[in-house]
This record gives sequence, structure tokens and C-alpha cells, in this order.
Amino acid sequence: MRIGIVGATGAVGQEIITLLSERNFNLESIRLFASPKSVGKKIKYLKENLIVEKIKQNSFKDLDILFFSAGSSISKKYAKIAQKNGCYVIDNSSAFRLNKNVPLVVPEINSETLKTNTRLISNPNCTTIISLMAIKPLMDLCEIKRVVATSFQSVSGAGNTGIDELIKDTKAAIHKKKFKNKVFDRNISFNVIPKIGDFESNLFTQEEMKLQNESRKILSNKRINLTATTVRVPVIRSHSISLNIEFTRKVNLKNIINALKEFKGIKVQDDLDPNLYPTPHDSSNIDDCIAGRIRIDYSQKNTISLWVVGDQIRKGAALNAVQIAEALRDKIR
Ligand code: A2P
Repeated sequence: MRIGIVGATGAVGQEIITLLSERNFNLESIRLFASPKSVGKKIKYLKENLIVEKIKQNSFKDLDILFFSAGSSISKKYAKIAQKNGCYVIDNSSAFRLNKNVPLVVPEINSETLKTNTRLISNPNCTTIISLMAIKPLMDLCEIKRVVATSFQSVSGAGNTGIDELIKDTKAAIHKKKFKNKVFDRNISFNVIPKIGDFESNLFTQEEMKLQNESRKILSNKRINLTATTVRVPVIRSHSISLNIEFTRKVNLKNIINALKEFKGIKVQDDLDPNLYPTPHDSSNIDDCIAGRIRIDYSQKNTISLWVVGDQIRKGAALNAVQIAEALRDKIR
């Protein structure tokens, strides 16, 4: 496979490079693209020093799979050109996620929607992926009516500039200096911000509506209702989500825990000792999401509450994209 990465210097692009080597993807070649300011920069891949290139109209001629992780506008500008050149495009932006003809894939959940004749595939929103890693095994156990989600989202969701802003803002706050926020709507140090993305006409944010719209598409289920409050928190790279899940009938806690344990890509951490609840530190730099605090909700029938954490850069973005590439590679072979 000849691979390309657009946005190779970004938080997700860098992680894709790491994952391709970690998972022995068996590459023939790899080419890296970023903004003009990074052109010529050297990035190590195994023993090779790769040089970051500028994107040109004919850049994608000899590539099999191209990852896009440079934001929606770059995807909209170049993804079609790459497809015309015969590349499979795995797009991390929200540009095409809800297009009818574009599969939106979490490989553990709906890899059957990947077809070799579909050259554009969307990688879902990070909070949606991590939430669904817990929701899907439970949905297979018993029909879900409604999910109420509250997310605690790390700054890595805003890329390297988001991580940088948290660090600089925190240092400034400790030294009692003023810091002018640029990436986030408010100062993020020692704070939480209950707004990610713009507001929609229903007063929910774009990020909140992604959970409803993308989940319904991934799960092929138009009846499931998900309502969310998404919150940015001063955490570097793992998201946490509190899920309150209402089923159509009574569920048993043991069956819930077993269903989660048996699902590939998620671990359970509070099984025997309730003190073992997972935090974002536990899921950082690992592939699996971790569920904990699993309990029957006393306030409403047929309902449970749980907590799930997952590395936003890994399963929330780069790992999911690489898993899509692996599934495609296995189908094309
Ligand atoms: P660069 O590092 O040169 O700015 P993150 O999500 O971590 O902020 O990363 C965004 C990625 O998208 C970076 O690799 C960034 O490159 C890349 N990028 C931003 N603007 C462009 C552009 N106009 N053309 C290609 N890549 C871009």
C-alpha cells in the first residue's frame, strides 16, 4: 500500500504515523503533506526521514490510501481530486460524514458498510466513537430508547493548537499573568467550557448534534435518541463521557458488564472494586476505551448510568482511521 497523510504535522496526523509503524501496516511508501509553513520539515518514520510536501493538484497520483486530517476546508478542496486519482480517502473531518453515499465507519460496529467501490470514507466525531464503543454492545443486549450524554472533552480535540493553548494558559494563570485565549471561547485553564462548535437553531451545539446524527447513521437506527451536553475540560488527550441509557425493558447489571467485557475495543474497570473507576489518564496512549461506574439508575425504570473514557487522538481519531485502512487493505487484497 502506498499511503499519504494530509495534515501529517498535526496531532492526529502524527498519531497516524506512529500507529502505522506500531501496527506493522506493511507499507510500500508513505508521503506526508501539511501547510506551506511545514514544507521541507523532516518527520521520522521507522528509520526513514520523510520530508513534508506541499499539496499540488497532481500530488495524489501514485497513492492507494490517503488520510485527511487538516480540517473540513482542506478535505472539501482536495478529497474529490484524490478520489478521481484512484485513491481511497479516509477523511477525519466532518465535511462528508452525513452524505448518503459516504460510509461513516467504526470498524468494530459497522465495517460491513465499507465497500471496495466506495472511495471516500468518513471517520466519525471523537465523542461519538467513544460513546458508541459502550453503547453498541448494550444495544445488542436490549433495545435502547434514549441516551443522555454529558462529555468532558480534552483539548486535543482542537488539535495541537488546543494542547498548546491549555499549557500556555495554565502557566500564565499559575504566574498570575493575563492570557488571551484564541482557540477556545474562554480561558480553558482551571475552567470548563460548555460549548464546542457553533450553536445550531435548536440551541444545541454542532458537537452535541453530531452525537445524535452520526450515531443514528453508524448504528443504522433512526429510532434511537441521543441528547448531549458537550463540555471542553482542561485535560490533554482523553475524553470522558457520562452516559445515562434507557432501555425498552429491564436489564440486569451482570449482563451489562458481560456485554461490555465481550466487546472488542472496550475494557471494564469497576467490576469487582468500585474504587477502580477509570479516568482520562488511564485511557491516554492506549487503544481500548474503558468503562466504569456502571450502575442501575434508581430514578427511572429500565435505565443505567455509566462512565466511559477513551483516547481522543487514538480511538477518537487516528486509530479508528487506521483500522478503517486496515479493513480496506484486507478487502482490496
Ligand atoms: P501545519 O502544521 O503546517 O500547520 P492540528 O489539528 O493538530 O491543528 O493539525 C492540523 C494539520 O493540518 C497540520 O498538519 C497542519 O499543518 C495541517 N494544515 C493546516 N492548514 C493546511 C493547509 N492549508 N494545507 C495543508 N495542510 C494544512
